[in-house]
Amino acid sequence: MELKVNGPAEKLEGNIKLPGDKSISHRGMLLAAMGYGPSRLLGVLRSGVTDAMLNCLTALGVESEYLGQDDLLILGKSWSSPSTSLYCGNSGTTMRLLLGALAPSPVRATIDGSPRLRQRPMGRVVTPLELMGARINGMNGQGQPPFIVDGQELHGIQYDLPVSSAQVKSAVLLAALFAQGETEISEPTPSRDHTERMLKNLGISIIRSNGSIRLIPHRGRLPNFTMDVPGDVSSGAFPIVAATLVPDSEVTLSGVGINPTRSGLLEILDAMGADIRRENQRQSCGEPIADLVIRSAALNPVEIEADKVASMVDELPIFAIAATQAHGISKVSGAEELRFKESDRILEITRGLREMGARIEPQADGFIIEGPTRLHGAVLDPNGDHRIAMAFAVAGLIAEGETTLRNADCIAESYPDFASDLIKLGAEIQ
Ligand code: S3P
Repeated sequence: MELKVNGPAEKLEGNIKLPGDKSISHRGMLLAAMGYGPSRLLGVLRSGVTDAMLNCLTALGVESEYLGQDDLLILGKSWSSPSTSLYCGNSGTTMRLLLGALAPSPVRATIDGSPRLRQRPMGRVVTPLELMGARINGMNGQGQPPFIVDGQELHGIQYDLPVSSAQVKSAVLLAALFAQGETEISEPTPSRDHTERMLKNLGISIIRSNGSIRLIPHRGRLPNFTMDVPGDVSSGAFPIVAATLVPDSEVTLSGVGINPTRSGLLEILDAMGADIRRENQRQSCGEPIADLVIRSAALNPVEIEADKVASMVDELPIFAIAATQAHGISKVSGAEELRFKESDRILEITRGLREMGARIEPQADGFIIEGPTRLHGAVLDPNGDHRIAMAFAVAGLIAEGETTLRNADCIAESYPDFASDLIKLGAEIQ
């Protein structure tokens, strides 16, 4: 699929309902499948990556049904060994979280993914699980997918994550639920804490203090539950930056998750001078949410360092687009993780922005952008990365002329209604 964006857009106006949070949807599906009986996920994300998770759970014998467009019923039960390999597609969250959940389960399963997923670092999740006693065999070498997991009795560990990663942290916590003895983990800077919040809501003893997380194992299956999934702030980042950059815009996003471990981009945009009002702040199923009202604003440059990266790791591509319009030099450092996502995002951001006329210097662990630059349309290929595709679609809205995004189907991995939502706000996209 090709997406053509006509720029520059005149103004964006209106209200959109974002898709359900990807991280929370993944965790909700998995915890419901690990539980006993019917659980409901309301407002769940229905997309490429969550389909991958659901298909894996189906292969493990778990039944589920969509009762409405985004209303998912999952019947939790004991898993059985699948007859085919569990295919995670391009979804790192599916593979890493499932490895943790499978490790203590009485099943044998092969788990695999797309060629890009096979290249992404999996040793970081296999290492702590093996320390707990897991048997995970990398068929292409140690720590490399596809894996054969032979469920085992595990024991708790004390582990310091070398890299902040919510996926690794969550895999260890899921395995720790059914291990012998407590598990205690820490990470260099706090990554998203949805797993901790959800486990706490399910009555699991999980204690957080001074950057460490201690979990006391659970006896028996997890309870079933009903949960409202907040709107995904990572998907919201695209209309938020679009409304900030396109003059005379006013856009409202309702029911957006503003968990502080995820809201780094909002804080950075605030510091740059953006106009983002948080209205009607409330809690939903242990997660803070708000309606966001975004008006266009002129931006100042900003520096983002390692301590901020985990809270906006998925938003750095769209941040880069915002930085091209800031008046001065913006810099991102401590973000080498960008090289290991659905694409090497430092490379793709640099390549695409240079095509559009921006001034950007890539660094080993980030990039430097000098703004403001009037961007011009270009023909780009997002290299299979949904966030790169959406970031450049937004760049197309502020660029002179037409921007063509080849192979834009990857957008459906996390935000299937992205183009129609932007069109609803007034963007010209075919
Ligand atoms: C996610 C964690 C992040 C993020 C990914 C989703 C999660 O990855 O990039 O899109 O749901 O836990 P890392 O854990 O590798 O940082």
